[in-house]
Amino acid sequence: MSEILRIRGGRHLSGDVWVSGSKNASVAIIPAAILADSPSTIENLPDIDDVYCYMEILRYLGAEVSLENGKMTIDPRGINKNVLPEAMVNKMRASYYLVPTLMGRTGSAAVPRPGGCNIGGRPIDQTLKGLTSLHAKAYEEGGVIYAEATENFHGDEVFLAMPSVGATINTMLAAVSAPGETRIYNAAKEPHIVDTANFLSSMGANVKGAGTDTIRVKGGRPLHGSNYTVIPDQIETGTLMIAAAATAGDVRIHGTIPIHMEALSAKLLEMGVTVRSYDDVIEVSSVGNLRPIKVKTGYYPAFPTDLQQPFTAMCTVMWGTSQVTETIFESRFRYVDELRRMGADIDVINNTTAIITGVERLHPAPITATDLRAGAAMIVAALMADGVSEISGIQYIQRGYEHIDEKLRQLGAEIEYI
Ligand code: EPZ
Repeated sequence: MSEILRIRGGRHLSGDVWVSGSKNASVAIIPAAILADSPSTIENLPDIDDVYCYMEILRYLGAEVSLENGKMTIDPRGINKNVLPEAMVNKMRASYYLVPTLMGRTGSAAVPRPGGCNIGGRPIDQTLKGLTSLHAKAYEEGGVIYAEATENFHGDEVFLAMPSVGATINTMLAAVSAPGETRIYNAAKEPHIVDTANFLSSMGANVKGAGTDTIRVKGGRPLHGSNYTVIPDQIETGTLMIAAAATAGDVRIHGTIPIHMEALSAKLLEMGVTVRSYDDVIEVSSVGNLRPIKVKTGYYPAFPTDLQQPFTAMCTVMWGTSQVTETIFESRFRYVDELRRMGADIDVINNTTAIITGVERLHPAPITATDLRAGAAMIVAALMADGVSEISGIQYIQRGYEHIDEKLRQLGAEIEYI
């Protein structure tokens, strides 16, 4: 029988909590390590299913991998396969970062189209464009992505149609193996892009401009293993900030990079929440009575789509009407039905804008996480509700949040896996 997360809501969260390493950086940095000619050690990896999934894949490929206390050592020298079975990759979107890295290591790759959260179409055309712009042969056939570093594989200009995180990372990962200079225009700027670029630089790659619209890579250098520490998770930090604000709490979140949180902090301040930061700590406190708000998701540094769901959940309890517009993914409001079961009043217009009329309180209900961040929304809603809610579908939550039950318990929540 699958596990359920049981939460008795109504507590004000308070105290100190520490953020884990970034999921979305980890899942790009781990496959990047196979480009090296010697072992790498990556620290501060979160204890989440996506990391275990990668460990299994790398071992299958022939790498030697060990993992202890968030520290993974990867020796890629034994890699002797470049074709992956579907069952290994379909749990995780980021598995397609193995396309450019296996190609860089072995000359070619065949990786089934990735799985991951069902939040929209999630096409891969920009990844294929990135690789073919570097004169690799890259295409999708029968649900499998094929890539080959042809004789003509070399750096060139790549114009992305939108600043896609996945396409930017895949193109950067290919470009470090492509002789000559690559320029990626309209690149994504998310913190995990910068972290992946920093890891590649620590391996001896020449990558400049990550965090801006244009990334420049001088490729074809031999890469060596590196010791690297992954940045803190921006979305976990945001989820904890939202949980604190939603429960009229008083929480100090440690180990963060406050500048990554500016879009969320600005919105919370506008709602009447106190947000202070110093060094790597963000303090969030609220006495309740949140003010209604308008939020629109966007590419970094705009408001992250990955916080849209828990943020919407927070807006369900207040006086007044809030508006949350999703601009990145076309199906990221499916979880709203679950919030309605708890008494939330939400209309979704054209699948893009949620009009949330605040109610006095949510009532507990059996609810289901339909994807990872929907799981975060369910947790926030259950923390606010008066009484016991049971959340199923928690395998999604375990994909991306390290020990969320323990962290919230530390803040005074009544929460347990049963
Ligand atoms: C990454 O997904 C994250 N995943 C997502 O986090 C996050 O929601 C998303 O970026 C946006 O920030 C990982 O980092 C592993 P995109 P990704 O390519 O790379 C369109 C989470 O909850 N697009 O930036 O798949 C696409 O449809 C997950 O942690 C194309 O049209 O997102 C979307 O509208 C969920 N063609 C937009 O671009 C392409 O080839 C942004 O997608 C690629 C994308």
